[in-house]
Amino acid sequence: MSPISNLGYMCIAASDLDAWEHFASAILGGICHRTADGGLLIRLDELEYRLQIFRSDDDDLAVAGWAVDSVRELEDFVTSLRVKGLAVHECSAQERDARMVECLYWCVDPDGLRHEFFTGARHATMARAFASRLLVGGGFETGRLGVGHYLQNARNPADTVAFYEQMLDLKVSDYIKEKDYLPGVDVEGTFIRARTGRHHSVAVTAMPTPKRVHHIMVQFKSLEDVGLCLDRCVDAGIPIEHSLGHHPNDRMTSFYARTPSGFSIECGWGAIVVDDRDWEIKTYSELSSWGHRMGAQSGL
Ligand SMILES: [Fe+2]
Repeated sequence: MSPISNLGYMCIAASDLDAWEHFASAILGGICHRTADGGLLIRLDELEYRLQIFRSDDDDLAVAGWAVDSVRELEDFVTSLRVKGLAVHECSAQERDARMVECLYWCVDPDGLRHEFFTGARHATMARAFASRLLVGGGFETGRLGVGHYLQNARNPADTVAFYEQMLDLKVSDYIKEKDYLPGVDVEGTFIRARTGRHHSVAVTAMPTPKRVHHIMVQFKSLEDVGLCLDRCVDAGIPIEHSLGHHPNDRMTSFYARTPSGFSIECGWGAIVVDDRDWEIKTYSELSSWGHRMGAQSGL
């Protein structure tokens, strides 16, 4: 099994940081801080950030940050990647400071997405303990499971899945193959997990959208916070890309709202955690068992 514990953070290249700050704090229920260079850090738990937003016209996912538990495991992992022929680079002290981690390396996948491998993410002080003024049900489901997940639109899904499986040594949880998901468009998704068992930290597909990422996902600890977040989106006029619904594989109840960068964020609750001892890889025939309708105005 991969030494990667979880997807620790995601970095987003965004054109409108003010919109992201409002979206993250007043809609999602995170806590925002601006950095000295004008970037935006979004806290979801006791760490200094889980989402890092920097200014760019890309409006897309820029970095997937993978957490490894110790320096020794991280260095052994980097050595193993280089033996496999992957070009892995050590980050500078300045880059480590920007990510607020002790040890940091990076590489690029076959689709061009930057991946970072780190250990020693900085925790906020007790005086700045995470306390959302919006969330009622215990906050975000993060911790050992990491920040959440992303759905990557790969130009060559087979090569990208091979990168995750064969290079990073992550595990396939299951597959979904839905015929005519959109008129004339079949969708195939591969769902991939890290060691601590969030059902998937990344899913790979080839959706017909221009962005590298279809959506990112954050998970609440209570269904009430999903509902309240949906209400806040509707009240604020934020487009609901997919109404409330349920996925058959990770069994998450969620809705999808449009972020200020144009791609979606899945706001969910109730996803399973995989136990490797009795896990069976399945192939499902639908992305959603109910709901997740496109273009539903109220999200319900
Ligand atoms: Fe998702």
